[in-house]
Amino acid sequence: AGTIEQTFLVQTQVFNRLCKDQYTTVVNGSLPGPTIYANEGDTIIVHLINDSPYNMSIHWHGVKQTLSCWADGVAFITQCPIQPGQKFVYKFKLSGQEGTLWWHAHLGFYRATVYGAIVIYPKVGTSYPFSKPDEEQLIILGEWWNRNVTELQDELDETGVGPDSSDANLINGFPGDMYSCSLSSDRRRRFLKNQENSSLELSDVGSYPEPGTFRLKVTSGKTYLLRIISASLNPCIFFKIANHNMVIVATDASYTNPFNTDVIIISPGQTIDVLLTANQPPGLYYMTTSVFVNSHVQFRDIPGTAILEYEDVGIFQSVPKLPNIPSHYDRDLFYNSMKHLTSLVSSPFWTPVPLEVDENMFITIGLGFQPCNSRNPNQICAFLEYRMAGSLSNITFKLPTKMSILEAHYNKVDGIYTNNFPNNPPLTFDFTDERYMFDLEKLMTELGTKVKRLKYNSTVEIVFQSTTLFTAENHPMHLHGFNFHILGHGFGNYSPLKHQEKLNLVNPVLASTVSVPGNGWVVIRFRANNPGVWFLHCHNEGHLAIGLATVFIVEDGPTSSTSLPKPPEDYPRC
Ligand code: C2O
Repeated sequence: AGTIEQTFLVQTQVFNRLCKDQYTTVVNGSLPGPTIYANEGDTIIVHLINDSPYNMSIHWHGVKQTLSCWADGVAFITQCPIQPGQKFVYKFKLSGQEGTLWWHAHLGFYRATVYGAIVIYPKVGTSYPFSKPDEEQLIILGEWWNRNVTELQDELDETGVGPDSSDANLINGFPGDMYSCSLSSDRRRRFLKNQENSSLELSDVGSYPEPGTFRLKVTSGKTYLLRIISASLNPCIFFKIANHNMVIVATDASYTNPFNTDVIIISPGQTIDVLLTANQPPGLYYMTTSVFVNSHVQFRDIPGTAILEYEDVGIFQSVPKLPNIPSHYDRDLFYNSMKHLTSLVSSPFWTPVPLEVDENMFITIGLGFQPCNSRNPNQICAFLEYRMAGSLSNITFKLPTKMSILEAHYNKVDGIYTNNFPNNPPLTFDFTDERYMFDLEKLMTELGTKVKRLKYNSTVEIVFQSTTLFTAENHPMHLHGFNFHILGHGFGNYSPLKHQEKLNLVNPVLASTVSVPGNGWVVIRFRANNPGVWFLHCHNEGHLAIGLATVFIVEDGPTSSTSLPKPPEDYPRC
């Protein structure tokens, strides 16, 4: 296996989007940042140089980091931030996974613009478990704010609310035609209304083609592997291509049985690899990203767009066809997609579901309140004396500030965290009963840096139960350091009597992010065979920022090859 060595230079520079200049923090001057291309088994070395005015850390999302927790890149969990003017070398191996992953800043809201792809090709000498695509293309879904992300962060730190929905959805860094500066809101509305019959006139489109819009040029008959990444901060996304179906072949760098669909449903943090065949009449077709919302929060109803362009079609010959954009509230469409996907168990990287469980955890997910102590007299707390807080089993996670949890664990330093994250929530009630939505007693959370310790190689089952507390929102739960099996999901309260029987123990999807339905549940299992300190959190950045997180500490195994190695020499300290 080889070694891939890259330099990531973090800088803040001016980008123009939505007709406005904006100071933007990016890696190597590009948005999205550089892609890491590697084969399974390769070692990755990234020299991170922080030339921005902000603290930084980079996380390699979905990378299992076997025995390399020091490189996981989570500020205050596995390392202290890399300060302005400082460097750090991230070194880790990509093993036991193939497909698409990504990297992003793991500190505050910087991941809004500090992100890029990781492409893991099959191990040298092997090939895909599906017929080889003619070409490959990254599709990176992001968001854009017409404000400096640092401001958004400050606002949220004060009030616990925010950020407001972003100003645009991006595809490979650009919002596309529907955000064209020359498009009046009236024409934009007409444009969207026309999607059903796709009878658009050139005059309906702004300055089509909008400069920068991503265009995927295809040749009739060829097959393309699209590696779709959701770098979106908060919303779940429906991704469609007019007139074209896609076949899902992998998710979170783990192969699935081929699954044919006309819509890709992707939560923040997830990656989905699909095959697309250019089998439609040569022409222009829009790819769209639209938002799924499952509570009545503010959201943007204008899709981001890119264009699928068949060879030999002149740019001005026609306006691209629009797909039918799903309803923003189509909860059934959203969650049904989870039902049908199964793992490819013939993959060399498949691991069977642990059938014996050592740790049975039941974790409730909720939004609640903490006392507000706004330091800024101009900022009003969201709810008089209270600020919003996210919680797992009613505990709002507080990041340490003096030392990373990993360093404290490794050096056995007291006072940074406590080992008492519970296996069961302190409160039991009818979790999906809407009467409890505003029950102040249940809404007050406990603040703490409570972690759950796991014995090396123990097996863990987690039932995530979303509650009605405050609002029943969707939560894309992400676990670092592992791929877990997603055994089942449903709406309402989880009941072992009713649901245990139906869990898929045979070929469930392996993933590192799973969407827990608002007012619903998900069951996952994993084997704690990777020593280290692993963050578990909602990948909705607005929720993570208000403490919807916890930490697993996996203890060392019996031998040196099952124990955490020493920290790297240049390990950033606080
Ligand atoms: Cu993609 Cu903890 O994050």
